[in-house]
Amino acid sequence: MLFRSILAYIGVSFAAAAIELPDLPYSYDALAPSISEKTLRTHHSKHHAKYVNTANEMLKSDPSHAKLSAEKIIQDRKVRANNPSLFNNVAQAWNHAFYWKCLKPNGGGQPTGKLMGMIERDFGSFDALRTKMENEALTCFGSGWAWLGYDGKNRGHEKLVVIKTSGAENPMAFGITPLLTIDVWEHAYYLDFQEKRGDYVKAYFDTLVNWSFAEENLKSILPGHEEL
Ligand SMILES: *[C@@H]1O[C@H](CO)[C@@H](O)[C@H](O)[C@H]1NC(C)=O
Ligand SMILES: [Fe+2]
Repeated sequence: MLFRSILAYIGVSFAAAAIELPDLPYSYDALAPSISEKTLRTHHSKHHAKYVNTANEMLKSDPSHAKLSAEKIIQDRKVRANNPSLFNNVAQAWNHAFYWKCLKPNGGGQPTGKLMGMIERDFGSFDALRTKMENEALTCFGSGWAWLGYDGKNRGHEKLVVIKTSGAENPMAFGITPLLTIDVWEHAYYLDFQEKRGDYVKAYFDTLVNWSFAEENLKSILPGHEEL
């Protein structure tokens, strides 16, 4: 113990790259009635917290992965093959931290600027994008996520994509940068909408989505681009 304290004092750290539970950017009751206080409190302080705590415990007992960033754990096939539970918990911690930022009180509406321009180019219209994302959310079998992402893998053919992923899966594992997500695990909507996932997804687009967050995510991958 003393030995560790001395090492800590001179700057040698045993700490893993800890995964954190971020505070919500709004209060637990701020998204009601679309998402009730009860749902949000349980989702954040129980479900998300459990993924974070489990991930940190696993990182502590798995020194070979303890220093890796969450993004690296999500993207690296070898890490996933070696420790699938670590992947699941780290990815769920990341996905939820991202999901909270996709929501805001009195959200909805449409994106602007470059993001809107790319949506019109790649899907035809905002409505076409929304329909596609709603459809992916509805056809995600069991628990998972629906995403708007940026696929920059083919130079000269960069484009926006809509995908669904199963369980904890994240588009970064396929080289796609997440711009926006909808959590379609039942814990996200069951208390408020029961089995009606479609009503939750409609409420997401009508009253919750924060398009500024998606715009900011696009800007961080495409810095310095002119508005379309
Ligand atoms: C919406 O997202 C933007 C960009 O991340 C953020 O600055 C803003 O605070 C968010 N709005 C609300 C009301 O949370
Ligand atoms: Fe969730």
